[in-house]
Amino acid sequence: MPTRDMYHLDLNREKIRGARIVLLPGDPARSPLIAGKIAEQYGMPRPQRPLAYNREFCTYLATVKGMPVLVTSTGIGGPSTAIAVDELAQLGVQTFIRVGTTGAIQDGIAIGDIVLTSGSVRLDGASTQYAPIEYPAVAHHEVLAALIEAAKSLTPALGCRYHVGITCSTDTFYQAQERTDSFARYIPRRFQGMTEEWRRLRVLNYEMESATLLTMCNAFGLRGGCVTGVIGSRTADEQITPEALKLGQDHAIAVAVKAVELLIRADGG
Ligand code: URA
Repeated sequence: MPTRDMYHLDLNREKIRGARIVLLPGDPARSPLIAGKIAEQYGMPRPQRPLAYNREFCTYLATVKGMPVLVTSTGIGGPSTAIAVDELAQLGVQTFIRVGTTGAIQDGIAIGDIVLTSGSVRLDGASTQYAPIEYPAVAHHEVLAALIEAAKSLTPALGCRYHVGITCSTDTFYQAQERTDSFARYIPRRFQGMTEEWRRLRVLNYEMESATLLTMCNAFGLRGGCVTGVIGSRTADEQITPEALKLGQDHAIAVAVKAVELLIRADGG
């Protein structure tokens, strides 16, 4: 009997062919890009169409070392990420790797560098609906180890560095990341000076999905991790250029795909 279709993702167990690992970009346009890169890298035909594409959730099925691997976009932020993670978990997915972009807040982190999140400051809202705020949003040790090994092996050839540490994960791109180039040009008092405080607390970067993802994975007993490519340096310039976006995105994807291969190997696949 066919299994139930997931309401938002428009996926069911038949469609995903037993995939246990998912790569989670934010942007739906990155799903075919990632699936295409995987196909190219592992000598498979490029997937012609998504398995499903509903709202911001665009899913492709790829194959890494003979194992099915999903690529599902989450959209931006916690609420849509929570929907994607929940519905994928219902279908039996056990390992979730966010692959995205980020703004660095420390000196010494350059455009194109890789940030591997060991844990996230939970400045989102969605994760608080899964676990109290005292609960840590930490990466799973096996996923983080695979990401570190992947980054170590690839970054010399990519011409960038990788950094492992704490990420600040927010619900807003402008206000909570203390950007003044917003419509209001006003930062609510709660966030004024916070970038400097996070800097002093050795937080590396800002992004918008890892707090929700990592909290949920820990709460559900699943494996979660997050790799992001640096597209903006908040210590240098507020602007994000198309070149920086491509560099950060491509480097993060390369590391994420390699980490998937390492996890499949370590899992005995
Ligand atoms: N994503 C974010 O959330 N912030 C940035 O500065 C860049 C990407």
